[in-house]
Amino acid sequence: MENKGTFYITTPIYYPSDNLHIGHAYCSVAADTMNRFKKLEGYDTFFLTGTDEHGQKIERKAAAKGVTPQAYVDEIVAGIKDLWQLMDVHYNDFIRTSDDRHVKGVQRVFRKLFEQGDIYKGSYEGWYCTPCESFFTELQLKDGNCPDCGRPVEKTCEEAYFFKLSKYQDWLIDYIETHPDFIQPASRKNEMINNFLKPGLQDLCVSRTSIKWGVPVDFDEKHTVYVWIDALTNYINALGYGTEDDSLYQKYWPANIHLVGKEIIRFHTIIWPIILHALGLPLPKQIFGHGWLVLDGQKMSKSLGNVVDPVVLAGRYGSDAIRYFLMREMPFGSDGQFSYEALLTRINADLANDLGNLVSRTVAMVEKYFDGEVQPHGEWEDTDTALIQLAEATSGKVKKHMDDLQYSLALQDIWALIGECNRYIDLNMPWVLIKTDDGKERLKTVMYVLCESIRIVSILISPTMPRTPGRIWEQLGVTEGDLTSWDSAATFGLLPAGTKVCKGDALFPRIDVKKELADIVPEPPKAAPAPKKKEEKKPEKKAEKADNAENAQGPITIDDFAKVQLRVARILTAEKVEGSDKLLHFSVKLTDAEPVRSVVSGIAKFYTPEEMVGKQVVLVSNLKPAKLRGILSEGMILCASDAEDKVLKLCTVEPGMEDGAYIR
Ligand code: MSP
Repeated sequence: MENKGTFYITTPIYYPSDNLHIGHAYCSVAADTMNRFKKLEGYDTFFLTGTDEHGQKIERKAAAKGVTPQAYVDEIVAGIKDLWQLMDVHYNDFIRTSDDRHVKGVQRVFRKLFEQGDIYKGSYEGWYCTPCESFFTELQLKDGNCPDCGRPVEKTCEEAYFFKLSKYQDWLIDYIETHPDFIQPASRKNEMINNFLKPGLQDLCVSRTSIKWGVPVDFDEKHTVYVWIDALTNYINALGYGTEDDSLYQKYWPANIHLVGKEIIRFHTIIWPIILHALGLPLPKQIFGHGWLVLDGQKMSKSLGNVVDPVVLAGRYGSDAIRYFLMREMPFGSDGQFSYEALLTRINADLANDLGNLVSRTVAMVEKYFDGEVQPHGEWEDTDTALIQLAEATSGKVKKHMDDLQYSLALQDIWALIGECNRYIDLNMPWVLIKTDDGKERLKTVMYVLCESIRIVSILISPTMPRTPGRIWEQLGVTEGDLTSWDSAATFGLLPAGTKVCKGDALFPRIDVKKELADIVPEPPKAAPAPKKKEEKKPEKKAEKADNAENAQGPITIDDFAKVQLRVARILTAEKVEGSDKLLHFSVKLTDAEPVRSVVSGIAKFYTPEEMVGKQVVLVSNLKPAKLRGILSEGMILCASDAEDKVLKLCTVEPGMEDGAYIR
């Protein structure tokens, strides 16, 4: 096979938390699928993953368990590796930030940046929480108190090293503008430039003296390297950058793709390129920010208690089915909703029916009509040619979509081919053809076309579903080799006549969805009992209206309610909307990782812009954006008002809640 060059892909390094959920698996499965695809195409590939193990959180968790941080993470990392094995995530290397090779690599980079003047010593002014032993910035405080424990904090000054991000800001803007593929999807590029780069970069604090579990600064040991220089350099440390044997670095750097979740794009497209540029190293070719897997409209996260365990799913349905679902259901780059119904529907419809039935009935017919032997085909008829052309063209379409990281579209095209194969059977009606001599002759061609199309399908699905092709080949009488290569997927007619097929078990047994759902879906949280309606006269017009609306709709279910996403948002700026005495225009922040939103609200008669700034409000955050007086409004701020709209008060939450929190 022709060597097409090298290909280096990475996942983020994961925080060692007790249980990685299906959202984490999403990123790794995507990276693994791409790696397998590139390998199949003939690239010399390298796939890196690993764990991000340092920091105070781990230090504390280990202390609470009475073990060393190293022992604590060792156990979790073993579980993470088991998960990747279960999901068939086959990496070339697994780097841990506690590895000696990584620690030394971080120290080398830190020292070099210091010696060339890009890292300097300064002081970090912040608010210190003594019980938590943590520093916070002014913005991180919750009502002036520690955001973690709610206790008072003291203004303190800590010696710290800083990295000169600001020096490279203009260079980076120019780089991003002139390398349109660098940040993908493209929408993320504008977000980075407009929200973070143009407003100006501040130098980054890159060491702490209060954290011990981390990489010591080797020329000033009371300092520990803080977060991003530690985490990001894993991508070059794993390749031996800066060591005696840097052959992997020479071969694979720059990376082709860093695959990351959308909340960490900022660090990968601002801090990482600046570190690399300051070191004089080339930049990765692409940072691709994928969306989140959400459950009931919320990012899956352990703290929200809405995680789905990939071990359970893979155990019940097999890893191929889960991998297929993850790559098929969500357009890569956007958020995608996880639901058990959607998963089971995909398994039944796409895998058991479309693919599974195609293989089983084709093999069964070759067995029944031709003693299990694929016959030489005759002249192609029009229906054959149409399917053959589609089969030959599909690998090109798949390649194009995979190169754009559009996994879902690639699978859609493969399933279009599978659908055509099934239609081809119905159109040609083998069970009728077999009844006459001429028909039987024609049936040889029909069965050949089907077997050969299945061979092509089996190759195309292999990066996403690594286990299924082998099972198909067993039934089809094909051995791995020339007939299963990527190039052979574009050429129809390679399957030799005389190949012996052999029926096997159903590839994907059908699932009884109702039964399965009852078995697997966790009980929904119990809805709070509705407050009893006051038996009062309803003198006010508005109250009547509201009541009627309620009656007209009837009670809503908990699922209806779950569609509305309510979140805590902080008002960053506020101004009057020109020409309106009712409207105020706000910029509001959810979490740091999300873009600042523009929201218009009709509360100008009750609140001045000045008193709104800094307040936490409740935002309906999944409302379809609309324009009010030409201004984009991405959400609605909730207020309580009396029946006549004479009094209006903002809804808010008790002090101590972080921005972006979900209200449930
Ligand atoms: N340690 C940092 C990354 C440092 S990379 C130099 C980190 N770790 S993480 O464990 O929190 O997240 C790892 C990856 O998992 C991120 O890309 C994140 O977006 C992804 N996911 C975590 N939950 C997710 C979903 N619910 N859906 C999709 N991906 C999600 O960040």
